[in-house]
This record gives sequence, structure tokens and C-alpha cells, in this order.
Amino acid sequence: MSLIGEGDPRGVGDRVSLVLAALIVLFLSLVFRGFLVEPWRIERTVIELELPRLPAPLKEARIVILSDLHTQSWGYRELFIADQLRRHPPDLLLLSGDLISNSGGVNTVLEVLGSVHPRMGVFFVRGNNEVEEIADQQGFIERLTKLGWTILMNEHRKIEGAGEEFYIAGVDDPNNDLDRLDKALEGIPSGAFTVLLAHTPEPFPEAVQAGVNLVVSGHTHGGQVQVPVLGPPWVDTPRTGRMYTSGVYREEGSTLIVSRGVGWSILPLRLFCSPQLIELRLRATSCGPTRGPLSRDGPS
Ligand SMILES: [Fe+2]
Repeated sequence: MSLIGEGDPRGVGDRVSLVLAALIVLFLSLVFRGFLVEPWRIERTVIELELPRLPAPLKEARIVILSDLHTQSWGYRELFIADQLRRHPPDLLLLSGDLISNSGGVNTVLEVLGSVHPRMGVFFVRGNNEVEEIADQQGFIERLTKLGWTILMNEHRKIEGAGEEFYIAGVDDPNNDLDRLDKALEGIPSGAFTVLLAHTPEPFPEAVQAGVNLVVSGHTHGGQVQVPVLGPPWVDTPRTGRMYTSGVYREEGSTLIVSRGVGWSILPLRLFCSPQLIELRLRATSCGPTRGPLSRDGPS
């Protein structure tokens, strides 16, 4: 005597086959999206922030943040970025490192970016790929300087305009422990509005203590894969773990922007974590930022 019924084993088998087929279709569609669609779906992300004591030169300025292009040769990403910079010319261009994946990409990336001349300048900090992959560092830096770029290696510059001033500081690659924030900020008057460029977000806690107003970084690629609800499984920022993966964070009087970057590393894979070019628009506010994340692309 059967309690289940003679037809059920076959029904259970059909349901298992159906679930397996659905899982295979889901897996293949994620692979398709992750390798063939999202890596090429570059977003132009507009971030609007209100910051206290914003100096006049930064009000109404179109600030473009480019990070982690990982250029090796001309391709869709390079054409997209060149087109965006032509169509939306920046007033200030901030480059937070890893423009290239290897030294073979230097000529191309300088062709992509070299014809852009924002009125407030181009500021660049080295990422781990520039530090590790380029043998002739002096020659590389000389080429960037000839383009009119400002290379910030634990140093800063004063920017003046409309009778006000602010500072742009930059630390050398934190991924190789070359960052010296105290040296980068040395000489900036207390209370002066300061933007800090850092390849990785790891110097942010130190920058909060130092009273830096705005930190711009990249390197994380947002994890490249963001699992819904859980966020990225892994981010290469050992000092801060998954605290600052991508998006905008605020702690005390400081704000951090972490770009998801344009390219990829290790695998040409991006899933629920599209590449991006950021256009930043700043407005003045009388209130200071409060502690906690303002927005982030995924939980960390
Ligand atoms: Fe990097």
C-alpha cells in the first residue's frame, strides 16, 4: 500500500528538473549580463552634494571624477570617455588613479585625456597600477606634467577664484602604503576648505580626524560584483574592509565619494555594479554633514 500515490515520484522528478532548468537559465543569464553586458554599460552618474563653507570657485563648477580606467588600448570604454568629456567639458577633472592596467596603456590614455583642458585644471594621484606597472616613473610624471596636469604625491595646491580660495591635496597610492596624509596637508591653514584625492578610500578615517572636507577615491570597483542585500563579497581595501565600497559617505564634517570606476581588474566581470564616470555638483549649505552613509550603491 502506498501512502503517497503511484504518480508522485514522477511529479517530484518533473519539479526537480524544472527547478534545475530554471537555475541553469538564471546562472547563464547572470554570466551573460556579468561578462557581456554590464562591463560595457558605463553610467554617467550625477552626484549633487550640499557642503558647508563651500568656496566660490567650486560653486556651479562641473567637477568630473574619473577612476580606474584600466586602459590597455583603444576600445569602447576609451571612446565613451573621450566622447563624454567632449560633450560635457569639465571645469575641474579629478583622476584618482589606475588609469592604466599596464605600461602599454599609457599612450592611449594620454590620447583619451590629454586634449581635455578644464579651466581649474586636471589633478592626478597614482594608483597601484601606475606604481607597479610603469618602470620609468620619472618619464611618466614628466609626460603628465607637460600636459598641464598636477600630480599630487603627498602634497597640495591652492586654488583661487572669485576672491576665495581652497586646497586640493593628494596622497600617493595607499595600496602600496605610500600615502602620507600629514605631509599632504602640511601647510594648509586650519579651517581652509580642502579636497583630498586618494586612490583608495582607506585614508578616509584619518582625513576625518584631520578635518578634510571632501575625499575623492576609487580602486574598489564597487567590488565588481554586488550581491543583492549582501553587497560585494570582497573589496581590496584591507585597512578599511568593506566600510567604503562605493557611493557617498559622511562622517562628522567630512564627505567621501568612492567611484565604482570605469574598468575592471582580474576578470572582465561586473554584476549589479556598472562602471561609472561621476559628475559632481556642489552647493553650499549652512548645516554641517551628519555622521553615517548618505548613499551607497550596496550594503557593506
Ligand atoms: Fe587600484
